[in-house]
Amino acid sequence: MTVVVVGNPKPMSRTRAAAELIAHELSGRAPTAVIDVVDLGAGLLGWGDPKVAEAKATVLGADSLVVASPTFKATYTGLLKLFLDQFGQGELGGIPTFPVMLGAGLQHALAPELTLRPVLVEIGASCPAPSLYLVDSEYATAPELAIWLESARKFVPAVTP
Ligand SMILES: Cc1cc2nc3c(=O)[nH]c(=O)nc-3n(C[C@H](O)[C@H](O)[C@H](O)COP(=O)(O)O)c2cc1C
Repeated sequence: MTVVVVGNPKPMSRTRAAAELIAHELSGRAPTAVIDVVDLGAGLLGWGDPKVAEAKATVLGADSLVVASPTFKATYTGLLKLFLDQFGQGELGGIPTFPVMLGAGLQHALAPELTLRPVLVEIGASCPAPSLYLVDSEYATAPELAIWLESARKFVPAVTP
């Protein structure tokens, strides 16, 4: 089962749509859960919030993860960091994880590889494929998406019926 985590202050965003599309294309089926981090609200500002704990449990139960953020000031969002900070070092235990970022242009195309991937690895994600960056206005049709999916798909655990 693939779980999507989206760290965008704007709910139901293009970033979320892109992450859901990618999860579907990677695994051949819709993600089993989508965590739109903004829905967790003020519980993210402390420790032990029950809704945050439930979201964490969903993430920890995943066979693979798509973690997505819009690009804000050349990096991933502070909102996503609040959620990722809820995990201990190594806690993800090697779950295959795909960092994805959308941005307005190509100037920050290395942001997912250089900013999002390191924090995911710190909390125990295994990131077997290059991180993916897509320009927001053309995320669904970008040729680089199809090329990336082709190479990333082999890292997704086979789906059990
Ligand atoms: C506060 C803020 C900062 C942004 N900084 C960048 C940036 O540094 N680089 C970039 O390419 N786009 C930047 N953008 C544009 C967003 O990353 C881009 O529009 C993104 O695709 C929005 O995703 P959404 O449609 O899912 O909300 C910024 C947008 C906002 C609101």
